[in-house]
Amino acid sequence: MLSSSSFVGRSVLTWLDYSPEEIRYLLDLSGKVKAEGKSGVVSQRFKGKTIALLFEKRSTRTRCAFETAFGEEGGYPVFLSTDDIQLGAKESLEDTAIVLGRMFSAIQFRGFKQHTAEVLAKYSGVPVYNGLTDLYHPTQALADIMTLEESFGNSKGKKLCYTGNGQNNVARSLMIICSKLGVHFSVICPPTLAPEAALVEKCQPLAASSGAKITVNQDFSELEGADAVYTDVWTSMGEEKKRDERIRMLTPYQVNAGLMAKTGRSDSIFLHCLPAVKGEEVTADVIDGEQSRAWDQAENRKHTIKAILLATLGVISG
Ligand code: CP
Ligand code: NVA
Repeated sequence: MLSSSSFVGRSVLTWLDYSPEEIRYLLDLSGKVKAEGKSGVVSQRFKGKTIALLFEKRSTRTRCAFETAFGEEGGYPVFLSTDDIQLGAKESLEDTAIVLGRMFSAIQFRGFKQHTAEVLAKYSGVPVYNGLTDLYHPTQALADIMTLEESFGNSKGKKLCYTGNGQNNVARSLMIICSKLGVHFSVICPPTLAPEAALVEKCQPLAASSGAKITVNQDFSELEGADAVYTDVWTSMGEEKKRDERIRMLTPYQVNAGLMAKTGRSDSIFLHCLPAVKGEEVTADVIDGEQSRAWDQAENRKHTIKAILLATLGVISG
């Protein structure tokens, strides 16, 4: 039987090293955290604790989710951009990690290399949360599944179709979490932007064990019966020079009313991690329309991040 103690001190760098039961626990805890917040319960569960929020890339949701989730419960978040801190410049990453570990209860890292998050976790001795790297965006994926479950009651056996750049951090993290939780996951993308074979090969056995089906192709008929249609920006942070090429390649994959209609369902939902470029990967009528749950997803970032913090900092029992 899983208990909260199994999370204490752990980092969240991807979901690959979390079991389906552990992810389930965090989703259930996220639901409790959200309900507590809505009922007006005020707690001080992070009193006396500190978190370093390291940002090499910009952020609205992730930064605000960490700052508000931690700060409103008495914790002390410290925002550090690359203008403020030595992060491999003039001081080795390992040395910075050791020092941060002496002063903070936990570290959040958003940046380019997954390796940086791994080094921080290895040398700091405190939990490190990946708030987005070029390869993964695990805390986003947890909020995405929470949102799917709020719409349909559960996620197992549901079908999530992702269209656009299948190689980006959001698509990659969705593939992992869906494979673990038994959510059918279809990536519809041009072959040159398909998720790398090594990741698909890693996810296939996980999917086989959870009952999920993973597909990657250019076939829009995959959308038929989909519970959720998901897209993300065509050019991620750091890829700005590729924008024209991506617009050319990905225009047929834009989520618009016509593409949503291919689900054949009026109750399918639209998901987007945000920020969105309306008119590129999604049209305004879809993201601002009735099927969109993008704003719930954004709010759920805070609840899921608070759940991760509570569990890994060991301030809950049971
Ligand atoms: N979805 C997400 O990570 O948003 P931010 O870039 O605003 O943090
Ligand atoms: N793929 C996007 C996600 C932003 C939350 C990026 O990396 O810019």
